[in-house]
Amino acid sequence: MGKEIVLTGITTSGTPHLGNYVGAIRPAIEASNRADTEAFFFLADYHALIKCQDAERVQQSRLEIAATWLACGLDTDKATFYRQSDIPEISELNWLLTCVTAKGLMNRAHAYKAGVDENVASEQDPDFGITMGLFCYPVLMAADILAFNAHKVPVGRDQIQHIEMARDIAGRFNHIYGSEFFVMPEAVVGDSTAILKGLDGRKMSKSYNNTIPLFDTEKKLKKGINKIKTNLLEPGEPKDPNDSTVFEVYQAFATPEQTEEMRQKFADGIAWGEAKKELFELVNGQLGEAREKYLELMANPAQIEEVLQAGAVKARARARDHIKQLREAVGLVNFV
Ligand code: TRP
Repeated sequence: MGKEIVLTGITTSGTPHLGNYVGAIRPAIEASNRADTEAFFFLADYHALIKCQDAERVQQSRLEIAATWLACGLDTDKATFYRQSDIPEISELNWLLTCVTAKGLMNRAHAYKAGVDENVASEQDPDFGITMGLFCYPVLMAADILAFNAHKVPVGRDQIQHIEMARDIAGRFNHIYGSEFFVMPEAVVGDSTAILKGLDGRKMSKSYNNTIPLFDTEKKLKKGINKIKTNLLEPGEPKDPNDSTVFEVYQAFATPEQTEEMRQKFADGIAWGEAKKELFELVNGQLGEAREKYLELMANPAQIEEVLQAGAVKARARARDHIKQLREAVGLVNFV
């Protein structure tokens, strides 16, 4: 049997934070090192344009995210690492899929519906500010996945519907053109421990403005950790680890033994300041080396460019044969 293909995309509209690292980057890199999987990781920069029309921000985010994954140890000999916008085959497939996708299916997409609901609630025209990019977002995502016939797609919970839609679209295409052109992809959703809480105790997310950046300076990391919300319990008073963001973040970086030690310290009434200091030391210790590498890469974009160009060559070689087959299936072949 062939290797299982694991594929995921990262929308390039923000700066990586600790939550991205724990929830997506670290597990993805681990998966890419397994012998029985073949990994495709890409910068979803076309998707970024849906959310963000600030060219500088998009460009900067692409660079930061690429540097982050490389600094965190992604081995690009093992994984295929590329920019979506470097793969014309994805755009081409996007159109072939668009033509078999029911508009009614897209009407049900959460992201689009949320936009409409917001408009209705504020008594705007329902279509106010809604682009075709947002409306067709799930088709582009299906193209990302189906171009490489990925089996497993690691995503956040909010993306499950998009994977279901990709299956739906793949099934339609297979049915209409009468063959199993596409594998049915499956979403892989990390366990709940992979969702890191942010400064305010909600899920760490750019949209909540509660993140701690991954590779900012040591000083900023310390400052971020010091801002994590705690309660008013005094030093010496026992604290509940299960109700503490400080503990949760600690656990996400600690070995099971370290976690148990910290659990005991909570029971013994460790001061919040002390717990945060230990948390900083743990996280900083683990990220220190990668931060150096990150800064080095950020100062040398040509090196990142080279890696991504090589990734695009690899990715295109894989997508090309598949697309050729699909062009034939729909009746777009040369006359001679
Ligand atoms: N939409 C995904 C997100 O916002 C990013 C993404 C784009 C993606 N294309 C993909 C994820 C394909 C997995 C597979 O998180």
